[in-house]
Amino acid sequence: MKNLKGWSPVRASVVFVALYLIHQIQQTKGIRLLVSDPIINATVTQNVLLSVEYRSNGTPWIQWRYMSSWKSQCIIEWKVNSYVNISASYTGRVDRFENGSIQLQNVEVRDTGFYMITVSDDFGSTKQSTIILNVHEIRYEEFYFVAVFIAFLAAGSAVLVCLMWVCNKCINIAQKKKQHRRAEEIELRIISA
Ligand SMILES: *[C@@H]1O[C@H](CO)[C@@H](O)[C@H](O)[C@H]1NC(C)=O
Ligand SMILES: *[C@@H]1O[C@H](CO)[C@@H](O)[C@H](O)[C@H]1NC(C)=O
Ligand SMILES: *[C@@H]1O[C@H](CO)[C@@H](O)[C@H](O)[C@H]1NC(C)=O
Repeated sequence: MKNLKGWSPVRASVVFVALYLIHQIQQTKGIRLLVSDPIINATVTQNVLLSVEYRSNGTPWIQWRYMSSWKSQCIIEWKVNSYVNISASYTGRVDRFENGSIQLQNVEVRDTGFYMITVSDDFGSTKQSTIILNVHEIRYEEFYFVAVFIAFLAAGSAVLVCLMWVCNKCINIAQKKKQHRRAEEIELRIISA
């Protein structure tokens, strides 16, 4: 502030105009495209937001493409205040937002790949950016199956142990009865003799 006070009004206004012009040039220079998360990890059935934010002075045209090693496909393209074109295979599972982001619903492992956004305006400028999406299988479900399997094994062996115990008891009782009967027979024999 001390420095500014020392400046002549002319010099200050020249600086101000220069700053204003630079700002204007940057504004009209074209499109700004910001990607918040260039790599996204997701699990199947999640809804995934491919989050971007663009700044443009014209009425931009926005396109999202899906690209993997075996295909490249347009997902959605739209021109602000004009039209929206969603590719048939994405109809009903893609939402778009004003800042250019899209949300994919209920992702599957085959949605893994590159998502390229292109923003173009009437002045002929174009900006592109890419988001990588990794979709994993749900891990805890595997653990769940293993847990259920182990529980079944445990229950099965518990039942076996019980059965063996019961069998053992039965055999013991039968043997005791046999011994008892033999003792009675011997007694009878002794009495009859
Ligand atoms: C995504 O997963 C990979 C491994 O599969 C890991 O290296 C990376 O740090 C993860 N990124 C985020 C943002 O979670
Ligand atoms: C874009 O808009 C969506 C929905 O309003 C929001 O969730 C997301 O965070 C925005 N992205 C950025 C980079 O601001
Ligand atoms: C919408 O997409 C279809 C197929 O990709 C294409 O034939 C059609 O021309 C597009 N319409 C507009 C307005 O871009």
